[in-house]
Amino acid sequence: MATIRLGDKAPDFTAESSMGTINLYDYLGDSWGILFSHPADFTPVCTTELGTAAKFKDEFDKRNVKMLALSVDGAASHVEWIKDINEVQQTTVNFPIIADEDKKVSDLYDMIHPNADNNLTVRSVFIIAPDKTVKLTLTYPASTGRNFYELLRVIDSLQLTAYHKVATPANWEHGQDVVVSPAISTEDAKTMFERGVKEVKPYLRMTPDPTA
Ligand code: BEZ
Repeated sequence: MATIRLGDKAPDFTAESSMGTINLYDYLGDSWGILFSHPADFTPVCTTELGTAAKFKDEFDKRNVKMLALSVDGAASHVEWIKDINEVQQTTVNFPIIADEDKKVSDLYDMIHPNADNNLTVRSVFIIAPDKTVKLTLTYPASTGRNFYELLRVIDSLQLTAYHKVATPANWEHGQDVVVSPAISTEDAKTMFERGVKEVKPYLRMTPDPTA
């Protein structure tokens, strides 16, 4: 197992899940993907996270992102837990949860950090582009639930910057001005971005979000 770095190919795998056997690459097809781990079934923070993820599924769908969760418990346990999640979060978990009992996927993605816990995964996030390269990794401890608004925000940035020569500034949200890529001269930027370029400094040029 090696640390997965940005730009690496996401390791492919076939594993059992709450929705049957899943192959990562087949499941993702030409979509973007978000793979996120949960320390264990029937735990409070994970229950809130998975319910929230289910409620956000339409937003992930709009962005062409397929969700795939993981915990080291078995598929039968996942199916029972999903009933609880649906009940207490008033939703329907509508994406697979990998049943990683043998920790094959957790090891492949370095999701178990022994100095935090020897047996359970941390809260890892991997965002995978359609070419199967890893575009973002996040690691949260078991005690801190993730912010799904932030996951959508970062997907908006990843998708925007994948297709346009821009970068997104601090706290950026879809529709706000973006930064012209440093590789583009201001002269070229003025031709490329028809809605205008504001030169704050020679190295800091802003332009309206080209997708808004
Ligand atoms: C939780 O999801 O609440 C949790 C899981 C493992 C350790 C601590 C908290």
